[in-house]
Amino acid sequence: MKMEDLLKIESEEERISALYEIFDEDFRLSSKASRIEFLTTVRQIEKYLKPGMKILDLGAGTGEYSLYFAEKGYQVTAVDLVEKHVKRIKEKKKPYMKLDIFQGNALDLSRFENNSYDIVLCLGPLYHLEDIGNRLKCIEEVKRVCKDDGMMLFAFINNDMVIVTETMCYQPDYLRKGNYDRKTFKVRDFPFVFITVQQARELLKNSGLTIVAEIATDGLSELLADKINNMDDESYQLWLNFHFYYSEKPEFFGASNHLLFVAQKCK
Ligand SMILES: C[S@@+](CC[C@H](N)C(=O)[O-])C[C@H]1O[C@@H](n2cnc3c(N)ncnc32)[C@H](O)[C@@H]1O
Repeated sequence: MKMEDLLKIESEEERISALYEIFDEDFRLSSKASRIEFLTTVRQIEKYLKPGMKILDLGAGTGEYSLYFAEKGYQVTAVDLVEKHVKRIKEKKKPYMKLDIFQGNALDLSRFENNSYDIVLCLGPLYHLEDIGNRLKCIEEVKRVCKDDGMMLFAFINNDMVIVTETMCYQPDYLRKGNYDRKTFKVRDFPFVFITVQQARELLKNSGLTIVAEIATDGLSELLADKINNMDDESYQLWLNFHFYYSEKPEFFGASNHLLFVAQKCK
């Protein structure tokens, strides 16, 4: 199927499944450059994790985070909409892991009790749900299943950096031909939903959340992918250390393709 044909699929669930027939999620975080998103997110999650904590991974993809934390002995629940992804997590799960895996929609977490997880990861659904009402509903569900003192982590794709990377990495004539509003610079929400830093902040605040940290997850990694992928191991390690520093600086937050928000329920 061609990318544009996805638009002919009416059901959002079926469209997302068809999208991941085009994109192979199993390899998305596998290059040196793309791994930075994973390593940065793990580093942030580990700031809040304590032994015995329970993690819910919504939009778990093929299980990068679920398997990583289950390997470390945490009790993890992975949920994803796409059957192929759920199957893949099941294949990769080791018998000793405390890892429950469900196919399901982050809009309906009724199988989980209120206040039941210490950490809830929502690293995917909010950049797939097209309807703003559904994004709010998803955040409500995340809040409901998260313990009152628990931490919620939300990922978004940054509208403004899409214009930068499309132009500089993939389509040199994007500014002329790209599908974005010439005045507001809003990029068409396809194949993902794109949001500005300010819109993401408002969405979380309007959902009754306090933002604890804002992290430039992958920063310039996509833009500099060729250079990063060619680094030797020592240079990569040094770049990674710099990136970790950069990713926490408020002045760089918007210069990142993925935005990570750490949030808590308002006290
Ligand atoms: C790009 S992947 C990210 C996977 C992983 N969380 C990560 O950050 O690497 C986005 C995932 O979100 C899943 N997803 C999208 N909308 C969802 C929804 N409403 N409920 C559950 N999963 C959803 C997709 O199927 C896909 O596996």
